[in-house]
Amino acid sequence: MVPKVNLKFGCARGQTSVSDPFTMRCSPIHPLTSRDPNTMRRAKISIIGAGNVGASCAMWAAAKELGDIVLVDIPDKVGVAQGKAIDLACCGPTERFDASIIGTSDYADVAKSDVIIVTAGIPRKPGMSRDDLIATNVKIVRSVSEQIAANAPDAVVILVSNPLDAMVYTAWKTTGFPTNRIVGQAGCLDVARFRTFIAGKIGCSVEDVSALLLGGHGDDMVPLASYTSVHGIPVSQLLSADEITACVERAKMGGGEVVKLMGTSAYYAPASGSILMAEAIIKDKKRILPCAAYCDSEYGVGGYFVGVPAVLGSSGVEKVIEIDLNAEEKALMDESVSHVKDLVGTVRETFPDLA
Ligand code: APR
Repeated sequence: MVPKVNLKFGCARGQTSVSDPFTMRCSPIHPLTSRDPNTMRRAKISIIGAGNVGASCAMWAAAKELGDIVLVDIPDKVGVAQGKAIDLACCGPTERFDASIIGTSDYADVAKSDVIIVTAGIPRKPGMSRDDLIATNVKIVRSVSEQIAANAPDAVVILVSNPLDAMVYTAWKTTGFPTNRIVGQAGCLDVARFRTFIAGKIGCSVEDVSALLLGGHGDDMVPLASYTSVHGIPVSQLLSADEITACVERAKMGGGEVVKLMGTSAYYAPASGSILMAEAIIKDKKRILPCAAYCDSEYGVGGYFVGVPAVLGSSGVEKVIEIDLNAEEKALMDESVSHVKDLVGTVRETFPDLA
């Protein structure tokens, strides 16, 4: 017998009705299904900070139909979070995605998130380095992390706020989560910039450029020309050493270039890199992506989060991959790691509770 169709607004997470569908808390669902929404539910992605990076993350996640989305901001900005959520939800019919998208300042709404992306914090202004943000953003990320630990203790957390390497440490210390469930987004962005500039120089598709990058998220990141190829062809056969160096330098300074032009820091590409990681985790893809992952014996780092190639799957960082480095690359990596250690040292000195 065909059940009576009663189209109403229902909640994708199992509630049967809501009073106001325009809060965008719920998506219209067809009650013909008898599936248990708790076992067949969509993935849930919470994004902390509904500013430029956070909203762009939400947009890429929705476009890829990765799951339901919660955009969280401070109470003063809750209207912005809610407005962006409604605006984005109304792209669904055109862009063809189904997702519940809400804006909120209530951390209870992040409960049962599979992935949480932290973009809360202040961005750079022209003339500032990422490190100049440390004092303000440690406080913000510490308070956000307390809320995450209290409300979504099983989530995998992707940090995006800068200075990235210090923020990953802060979130790890504050949440007490195992190291596999704390990871920083930097390498996916940096490598995307590097690939873009290499492809532009060669005049080929960005898709055909494969590259690798190590180290911290700063001007001392280590793009590895020796691990860069274009559809399997070593990049050194297609570009001169000077041309490759120019691409390496532009990738290193790529963030600063955008800040100088826009007066604030980049957001489309950082968000795209973050969602690439979220997708790998949500779909358990086991993708090998450059990200800030916890390394102890790996690369001789000794207990810090640094940019390395890692396997990302449903448990978060499932494996750190160690690659051979030549003497020059090893020296650059050591220098970058020592900068990460300095940054973490500053956090420990300034905030003794995080030591
Ligand atoms: N909880 C939630 N949101 C917060 C909190 C908090 N405790 N504190 C600040 N925010 C929010 C701000 O209200 C703002 O809406 O974070 C948002 C940050 O947005 P933008 O100012 O637009 O900054 P954005 O460009 O998105 O950069 C955010 O990401 O890439 C990094 O360097 C960048 O550290 C910066 C961060």
